[in-house]
Amino acid sequence: MIQLKNSTEIAKIRESGKILAECLLSLDEVIKPGISTWDVDRIAHEFIKKHHAIPSCLGYCGYPAATCTSINEVVIHGIPSKKQILKEGDIISVDICVTLDGYVSDSTRTYEVGKVSDEVHKLNVVTRECLYLGIEAARKKGARLHDIGAAVFRHAFTENGYGVVRDYTGHGVGFDVHEEPSVPNYVEPMSSNLRLKPGLVLAIEPMINMGTWRIKDDRKDGWTVRTADGKPACHWEHTIAVTDHGIEVLTEL
Ligand code: MF3
Ligand code: CO
Repeated sequence: MIQLKNSTEIAKIRESGKILAECLLSLDEVIKPGISTWDVDRIAHEFIKKHHAIPSCLGYCGYPAATCTSINEVVIHGIPSKKQILKEGDIISVDICVTLDGYVSDSTRTYEVGKVSDEVHKLNVVTRECLYLGIEAARKKGARLHDIGAAVFRHAFTENGYGVVRDYTGHGVGFDVHEEPSVPNYVEPMSSNLRLKPGLVLAIEPMINMGTWRIKDDRKDGWTVRTADGKPACHWEHTIAVTDHGIEVLTEL
């Protein structure tokens, strides 16, 4: 069931989203060669607590950390670790959910550690563009859910030949980390193509691979999702709200 949000509820998600946006922005200064993903997680966790909010991922379905830190070929759900030290040329996506007074926002950025190769930089730029093209598609008059996935897929695959992850999708958000509807980054004819209407709050999150779209789940830790061919992946995400005045990005300053 899709749970629409009223303007008071959207205002609360907006507040939560501001904290999250500031948190992700502050990590720009933190993510440098030599830092561990454990420390990135700790710094983000402290930032969220300082703003009287809760990192919603911690404990969600048993997830053991405040953030997901996914390096290079890890697409999503990388678990922070003291043993994982960032080095020049790596990319790392940091995916965070923030709960403030019970209202959840969800956002992800992929950071470049020092100087990365031109081809990895291009993947990151295109993935970010996919996110904003998805958001622009949602802004069009009469837009439907499939328009978002179509815009992401066209830019990632049709125009740039990248793999678009199919096993994980965007989602409704706001009262919980994951709500209906599913927001795929491709056109899934069998999935809902509802017209975007005021009160919908969605997490749009292109997960784009340099090579194959196929992924493999880590059998041991049960969380880490890697590209099947070991090539790098990028991930960008915003929480948006559909209001009477159009689309608002809630996880931007
Ligand atoms: N923030 C993730 C998303 O974008 C969800 C993380 S689930 C967790 O959907 F359990 F790994 F935290
Ligand atoms: Co999400």
